[in-house]
Formats: sequence, structure tokens, C-alpha cells
Amino acid sequence: MALDFGALDEALRMAELLRPSGVRFKIGLELFCRHGPDGVARMQERTGPVLLDLKLHDIPHTVGQAVRSLAPLGVWGLTLHAGGGPVMLRAAVDAAAQAPAPVRCLAVTVLTSLDEQVLHVLGVRTPLAQQVAALATLARAAGCAGVVASPQEVRTVRGAAGPDCLVVTPGVRPRGAAAADQARVATPAEALGAGADHLVVGRPITGARDPRAALEAILEELVAGAPRGREGALGPEA
Ligand code: C5P
Repeated sequence: MALDFGALDEALRMAELLRPSGVRFKIGLELFCRHGPDGVARMQERTGPVLLDLKLHDIPHTVGQAVRSLAPLGVWGLTLHAGGGPVMLRAAVDAAAQAPAPVRCLAVTVLTSLDEQVLHVLGVRTPLAQQVAALATLARAAGCAGVVASPQEVRTVRGAAGPDCLVVTPGVRPRGAAAADQARVATPAEALGAGADHLVVGRPITGARDPRAALEAILEELVAGAPRGREGALGPEA
């Protein structure tokens, strides 16, 4: 469950509302930029370990140092861009391994907001799914616990990175929900049916008039429509 709020009190209110459903939470740049590590700690007091989605992308030394600073927060996982390359990924994995509690490094392959056309504009001529597979392979070779990809590429990622690779999928949209800035989307049941381990859903829930009902509807769709993922249908971050 993506708590994409800059204000900590808003994120905490939403977490409190949705916590009874048993989902895990993801917080991102907007909250971290405003509240920093203290904000993460205050959130985790209420929610347990979160996925800290900062999508780090810099030279290996800088990312390694950043992960060294973040890892003691005791988050469930951290995200970084696979496009930072194998040395950067390895620097992050090594730094995360030094934390008192293990921190999963999850590599973002191709942002779910991008489509093939934009990828071409960026100079990437490889077909999108192939690019995702290449980045997933690279991330696993560098020791990342898993990758972030769209639900449309879960099977491709599994083929490339193996059955033990955690696959986290944003770009999840219940039927009829607005895609907004997401380009590669699928329904919750489709994502889970394809074999995603963790589904990320934000605005279809946080933007709903009744967020709890919206989340419950997604959970019901998952229970009805598809086998459960290895760590539970919606953990961490329904
Ligand atoms: O509101 P929505 O369901 O689109 O939220 C998706 C969440 O997943 C956001 O927090 C976004 O930053 C994150 N995310 C993404 N695409 C990625 C990686 C993370 O949308 N490739």
C-alpha cells in the first residue's frame, strides 16, 4: 500500500485507517524529503517495517554511503534504480548487508510510467520487456533481493531472474480505475495471477472516497481470482 503523502500526519491517518486489513506500507520521496529519517521512524512505530521507496540512482560510492545511512532505520526494503549499473547495485547490497537487520534491496527496472515510445526517446532501442529482463538479470547478479517491474512483465522477469527473485509490481489498477501517469498497468488479479510477490497500489485506494472499502474490494478480488503470492497476496504494500 503506497502512502504517497508529503505530510506525516496524513500518511499516519491513512495507515491507521488501513492497518486493520493487514497490508504493509510503502513510503516514498515526498514523505522522506519533508520528514527525513525521523518521519520513517515515526511511521514504523505505527506500521512496522516499511518499504522505503527512494529509487536511489547515483555513483556507486554515493549510493553505498546513502544505503549505509538508511539501513539502520530497520526498513523492510529499499529501492534503487537498476540503471545505476552493476557496481552501484553491488555497493548498495554490500551496505545493506552490514545493517543489524537485513534490508532487501529492490531494483527498479523500467518505471511503470514509461512506455516503449518514451524508452525510444530516451535512446533505448531494446524492446521494453527485453530491457526489463536485462535489468532484472543484472540486479540479481549484483545480489538484489528482487526487482520492481510492471505486472505486464512479471513472467518475463521470472524467466530472466529465476523463481527466488522477489517481484514487486506498481502499475496496479482495479478495473475502471484511472491509470493517471502509469503507462503499463494491470488489474490486481492479473498481477497476482502472473506471479507477482507484492502488489503496490496507491491512488486507487488513497484517492477513493472510502479508502478502506477500496482496499477491501481489491483484497476480495485477489482472494477470489488468483493463487496467493509467496509472501501473501498484499504484503508489503497492497
Ligand atoms: O498511485 P499509484 O498506484 O500509481 O502509486 C504507485 C506507487 O508505486 C508510487 O508510490 C510510485 O512512486 C511507485 N512506483 C511506481 N513505479 C515504479 C516504482 C515505484 O509507480 N517503477
